Amino acid sequence: MTRISVKVDGVTYDDEVEPRTLLVHYLREQLGKTGTLVGCDTSNCGACTVHLDGRSVKSCNVLAVQADGHEVTTIEGLSNPAGGALSPVQEAFGQCHALQCGFCTPGMIMQATDLLRENPDPTEDEVRVGMEGNLCRCTGYHNIVRAVLQAAGTSSVGEQA
Ligand code: FES
Ligand code: FES
Repeated sequence: MTRISVKVDGVTYDDEVEPRTLLVHYLREQLGKTGTLVGCDTSNCGACTVHLDGRSVKSCNVLAVQADGHEVTTIEGLSNPAGGALSPVQEAFGQCHALQCGFCTPGMIMQATDLLRENPDPTEDEVRVGMEGNLCRCTGYHNIVRAVLQAAGTSSVGEQA
């Protein structure tokens, strides 16, 4: 076992993990952060996307020990916990009906948030390219793209926590 210290959604956790433990499994099984989902476990679908030091990563493609000393934000830390306010991207996904079953949604929102931090005023093509690592089996993507473009029109898309 290896000792790690990771700040997740604003709280620092000191834990023992096996060296082979994936970050997504650590988040879900040790911290109970089940808002981060596992779709494929092979870095294809994007359902497990979180932010590591502010940049989106597929957490099934990162070992928990690699997060030692770093900061992770999950979908559960994206909204403002004090006021319960959703982030602009979360709001836009709801308003644009950008989800059906919702399985891809946490990862989509985390990826979109990072995309808009890097490029606050993207074209539709730039959104489609920026989101191409995140798969959705339900929506046909159109409303997801609309939601990201709508969120780009708001003043701040970053984490509010
Ligand atoms: S579960 Fe990580 S990319 Fe699919
Ligand atoms: S809403 Fe079902 S996979 Fe995207």
